[in-house]
Amino acid sequence: MTTRILFVCLGNICRSPTAEGVFRALAAEGGVDVEVDSAGTSAWHVGSPPDSRAMAEAAGRGIDLSGLRARQAEPEDFERFDLIVGMDRSNVTRLEALRPAGNTTPVALFLGYAEGGLPTEVPDPYYEDNFPQVFDMLDAASRGLVARIAAGQELAQ
Ligand code: 4NP
Repeated sequence: MTTRILFVCLGNICRSPTAEGVFRALAAEGGVDVEVDSAGTSAWHVGSPPDSRAMAEAAGRGIDLSGLRARQAEPEDFERFDLIVGMDRSNVTRLEALRPAGNTTPVALFLGYAEGGLPTEVPDPYYEDNFPQVFDMLDAASRGLVARIAAGQELAQ
């Protein structure tokens, strides 16, 4: 069975496209059947490729983000995906405002899937310029979520 997951941040040019690329690669490595996409809660960068700093960090770790283009999250995403994952609490709040009436798709914070010792929110690297640290957080959360799917556990936290 295919598990469909949408990763969401503010701009869809730093955190969520990196999450999409890392998670897709780790799921393939782990033989886990997934469909993955990413989106932003804002429309600021719609149609743009990922931030060059995010692409460079990912490329250095063997992940190619160059084909991705930003789009804005929309209510229909709640019907298309089995799980929607926000990077920080404001992403989750904005996502909940898009939820169609009666829809029960889980919305979760990504770092809730990571093992041990991480903060609960992925900081915004667009301003903080901490792309290596953010990549490590996204990698840890991806490993946890891949393991959860492989084990057949609940997607919701
Ligand atoms: P992201 O980072 O949400 O991880 O894609 C940001 C990208 C752009 C902006 C803010 C955060 N911005 O203000 O344009």
